[in-house]
Amino acid sequence: MALRTIVQDGDPILKKKCRAVTNFDDRLAQLLDDMRETLADANGYGLAGPQVGVMRRVFISIDERDLPEDGERPEGYETKYLEFINPEILSTEGEIMQYEGCLSFPGRNGAVRRPAKVKARAFDRHGNPFEIEAEGMLARCICHESDHLDGVTILDRAEYFYEDLEEDEGEEE
Ligand code: NI
Repeated sequence: MALRTIVQDGDPILKKKCRAVTNFDDRLAQLLDDMRETLADANGYGLAGPQVGVMRRVFISIDERDLPEDGERPEGYETKYLEFINPEILSTEGEIMQYEGCLSFPGRNGAVRRPAKVKARAFDRHGNPFEIEAEGMLARCICHESDHLDGVTILDRAEYFYEDLEEDEGEEE
């Protein structure tokens, strides 16, 4: 496994649409392994192909569905990951406005409206299709990362940024 460089704000890659994955091969497995390592190193929740310069429809997410309600990690807890290849959001339910960040835009927290629940389907690294129903952080992550595959980021989605609010308030005083 190897760390990959995370593409940062201003890089035109982040605005491009990704192509479908067609080969479920060793190269894809290597990419996914590297993405896990890169995500863990950056302490993030999700990471999409274009964020490591790969213009393919693939993203990964942390899977914390087995954690207790309070989010407390038990002793020796090992982080689990979900891998989405050629993902498709099938249906959504409800709406939640919440701040979210992105590893490509460090220090930016955008207020983004996202569905409360999401039903999606995708393929795993071996080419097997699966369906998933998600809520909370995972639902938000699936939407955020799917956006990346279409060249859409929090800069497009955020209604405002937390950092800008603080600045505005500071100026008024
Ligand atoms: Ni992002």
